[in-house]
Amino acid sequence: MSTVHAARQALTDLTPSRERVLEDALRGLSSQPRRLPSKYFYDAAGSALFEQITRTPEYYPTRTELALLARCLPDIARAVGEKAHVVELGSGSGRKTALLLEALREPVAYTPIEISRAALLSSIDHLAPALPAIEMLPVCADFTHPVEVPEPEEEPRRRLMFFPGSTLGNFEQAEAITLLRAMHQTMGREGMALIGIDLHKDTATVEAAYNDAAGITAAFTLNLLRRLNQQIGSDFDLQAFHHRARYSVPNLRIETQLVSDREQDVTVAGQQFHFAPGDAIQVEYSHKYTEASFQQLLDAADLQIVGRWDSVAPEPAFGLRLLQRR
Ligand code: AVI
Repeated sequence: MSTVHAARQALTDLTPSRERVLEDALRGLSSQPRRLPSKYFYDAAGSALFEQITRTPEYYPTRTELALLARCLPDIARAVGEKAHVVELGSGSGRKTALLLEALREPVAYTPIEISRAALLSSIDHLAPALPAIEMLPVCADFTHPVEVPEPEEEPRRRLMFFPGSTLGNFEQAEAITLLRAMHQTMGREGMALIGIDLHKDTATVEAAYNDAAGITAAFTLNLLRRLNQQIGSDFDLQAFHHRARYSVPNLRIETQLVSDREQDVTVAGQQFHFAPGDAIQVEYSHKYTEASFQQLLDAADLQIVGRWDSVAPEPAFGLRLLQRR
């Protein structure tokens, strides 16, 4: 007999504090080259802009992954088995999650871990009424730090970590390994992880995805400065920086920067930062993978591939990998 859980949605809220954001901003702006963490893109406005990006014609990863998931979910459900506790890192809007939870065999609970409280609550608001038999245990937190996963009322057979959208690509190699190692810990002995990875492809396709004609990605990138102005009282002039995203083939990654349009000073908590025209702040990496570069990360994190699904041409190359401890 299944329990109805619609009413139980205890929210664990660990939204990054003003102090933490300020400390990260000061450290990043004082370093050479200057940088700001891309995780701070995702306040309510940033999450809404990211949702819009995923619907632009140029941004292929979301629609390609959704189509791939729809095709291979029966295989994934078979491999995962029944009564899983699904733990999603960076849950976003929850569109892919609904597909996964509906396909799995009697999943007992769902824990989205998401830095944006607004995005977290809206995904739960959509999912909970449609899936009343699944206990919803959301956690508002920065998953780049260790997060304690709440225990469901019903004991699960295994945890399934879900990390779609090639979000792993937003981490540099050492951070990606730390994250995969943390996943290795969190999933436990019987656990699995389903991870989406964007694969290396031609520069024109990749660059178009991060420079959409409607300018939504540019607005998303600049929103980082608006968020900092709002949360930590900095005085970035949003009219005086522009978005730049280029694919570095040797590094297999999109490198997104905010570039100063003129000579200017920016004040953050009483500290001044000088910018000459053309000076850039590195704000996001989006790594693309080859089989070899992904395997290197798995080796370092002691994980192995137990299921592999790829998009089919003419779809742009994108992969899903089911992982287990070695
Ligand atoms: C969330 N993440 C995987 C996106 C990406 O493709 O790196 C964020 C994004 N940045 C610009 N467009 C989309």
